[in-house]
Amino acid sequence: MIYFDNSATTKPYREVLDSFIKVSGNFFGNPSSLHSLGAASEKLLTRSRQQIAELLQVKESEVLFTSGGTEGNNLAIKGTALMHAKRGKHIITTAVEHPSVIEAFEQLSEEFDFDVTYLPVDSAGRIAVQDLLHSIRTDTILVSVMHVNNEVGALQPIEEIGKLLAEYPKILFHVDYVQGAGKVPLDIKKSQIDLLTLSAHKFHGLKGSGVLYIRDGVHISPLFSGGSQESRFRSGTENVAGIVAMAKALRMSMEQRDKGIPKLLNIKNSSGKGWGR
Ligand SMILES: Cc1ncc(COP(=O)(O)O)c(C=O)c1O
Repeated sequence: MIYFDNSATTKPYREVLDSFIKVSGNFFGNPSSLHSLGAASEKLLTRSRQQIAELLQVKESEVLFTSGGTEGNNLAIKGTALMHAKRGKHIITTAVEHPSVIEAFEQLSEEFDFDVTYLPVDSAGRIAVQDLLHSIRTDTILVSVMHVNNEVGALQPIEEIGKLLAEYPKILFHVDYVQGAGKVPLDIKKSQIDLLTLSAHKFHGLKGSGVLYIRDGVHISPLFSGGSQESRFRSGTENVAGIVAMAKALRMSMEQRDKGIPKLLNIKNSSGKGWGR
């Protein structure tokens, strides 16, 4: 069987599963506990955060663990809206986002009186940066644009958008990087991104783990009240085994990326010539 549904989810790497099982069995302490089992779990969490920060070329303090893409997107968008509503209630996204973005915007519009601009896309599925420029207002607080589209694979001009938004330092820039992570490189710092979402099961990690990158100095409201984990942005006991497995999956998928893309192109190019020959 050739599995062709990697945009929906990917098969976990064998090594990722092995890490998950090992950590679940041997490091079951709560990382917030003060005893030695807790400290051992916390050490793994810290190491995973360092590894992920290094792979994404960001700071360790900017990596927050979540349950995946849906949570990361909701936290970035609603967290920004809740924190900055007094400054402005205009938010911008595109017409082609994943439902975890589109429906968060719809809820903010319908229930909390935010004014939303949905940027249109051209026949290649891309927005025009000029359209974004023309939609910016004095009360705009957030722009959310996905990197790779989950249905047609269109790539948005993230670096160009970041450059434009750098002229508007009060507008936060969120990127849904769920489909691109581990496959299509993105320079987070150069693109001047404030918030960025990843989900482990899209790069051969496990379902139920993700990352929200929050640039140092950016303030958003948490959506969960609780034990103040993840720098108070995301309360809830961390999924240590899933996070260790995610760090491994991100490293492996980035290492495989350069080999995998020529292989995929080869399959794509041979698809018109008939299978099974
Ligand atoms: C672009 C995009 N964003 C967000 C998500 C949601 O991620 P998760 O399944 O981890 O909640 C998906 C999943 O299909 C996606 O493709």
